Amino acid sequence: MGDRVLTFLGIESSCDDTAAAVVRYIPGQLAEILSSEVEGQSALHANFGGVVPEIAARAHVERLDHCVERALAQAGLGLANLDAVAVTAGPGLIGGVLSGVMLAKGISAATGLPLIGVNHLAGHALTPRLTDGLTFPYLMLLVSGGHCQFLITRGPEQFQRLGGTIDDAPGEAFDKVAKLLGLAQPGGPLVEAEARLGDGKRFRFPRPLLDRPGCDLSFSGLKTAVLRARDALITAQGGITIQDRRDLCAGFQAAVADVLAEKTRRALAIYLDDNPTDPAFAVAGGVAANVVLRDALRKVCAERNVRFTAPPLALCTDNAAMIAWAGIERFRNGGQDGMDLLARPRWPLDATAAPMIGSGKKGPKA
Ligand code: KG4
Ligand code: ZN
Repeated sequence: MGDRVLTFLGIESSCDDTAAAVVRYIPGQLAEILSSEVEGQSALHANFGGVVPEIAARAHVERLDHCVERALAQAGLGLANLDAVAVTAGPGLIGGVLSGVMLAKGISAATGLPLIGVNHLAGHALTPRLTDGLTFPYLMLLVSGGHCQFLITRGPEQFQRLGGTIDDAPGEAFDKVAKLLGLAQPGGPLVEAEARLGDGKRFRFPRPLLDRPGCDLSFSGLKTAVLRARDALITAQGGITIQDRRDLCAGFQAAVADVLAEKTRRALAIYLDDNPTDPAFAVAGGVAANVVLRDALRKVCAERNVRFTAPPLALCTDNAAMIAWAGIERFRNGGQDGMDLLARPRWPLDATAAPMIGSGKKGPKA
């Protein structure tokens, strides 16, 4: 296939964000995001302590076509100006994925545009090529409320999972710690703000799985350790002070940063064994907003002379620009789907890696 300008519509509806975007690939340049519309649903799920799949699916159905219209209008384009439509076909909450896939099939059937099904995780994993032009292979750490894995991204559809969480994702742990310390949700930014005023050395929390080889992670025991420390304070002094809370947050965050830094060190060693010519590491996901964590990872990369990148936050969290981009990558690699494209609740990026255990607050981690 000759290299040419490609303008793709992307559609994302696998969790609690309804999103549509238009991305243009221009050979030899960084791609352009012509529009990226994201409509969150947190207000709809706020009273339920998590995403309710049925409510999410209905909201996607109601909002998707308007979202696509806005994305096209924002880009100043119509369907006739597009080269293809890319859609998240999994993994995720099946009702939501189905809504997106049905819409994309409808557009494709009506216009004759090629249809490209995209793995949501591939969208996250390929984003550093959209934002920073990274070349294959690069090492990726996805850290959010729903994801936590190390991936060597070798090609548009070629991923090697080096390890991931065996229970909670780090964002979930931040959110649970916030909850047990009386902070609002989402807890990550609040825990980080408290930790800034705290002493990270006062409480020595465990560094889970550091004693075991490999790149797997675990965060659920760490959260329990914070709960125990809090309860010990309550028993001893009848409650916790503001400073206690700050110190608990700082201790917890230091443990998360230590664990992620050490596991990144190990993942980098495996990646560098491949002798990549232009070695690069990218961290993405909501938790990548954490400054302490970012600094820790940047340091680990500097130790090994590996380029450190972190896409802007709006492209780290769920969006459709990453889906349009992953669609472009797949299409340029010869990939395309027909009307038999399936919506998949689970769809591991690396089919050869052992399946992940557990399920995040935002659905299966795949
Ligand atoms: O990627 P994201 O928006 O959604 C998914 O989980 O897919 O990530 C949200 C998660 C939440 O758990 C939130 O608490 C966490 O990212 N988060 C943070 C920070 N900002 C957001 N965690 C730690 N420190 C932060 N500054
Ligand atoms: Zn995601």
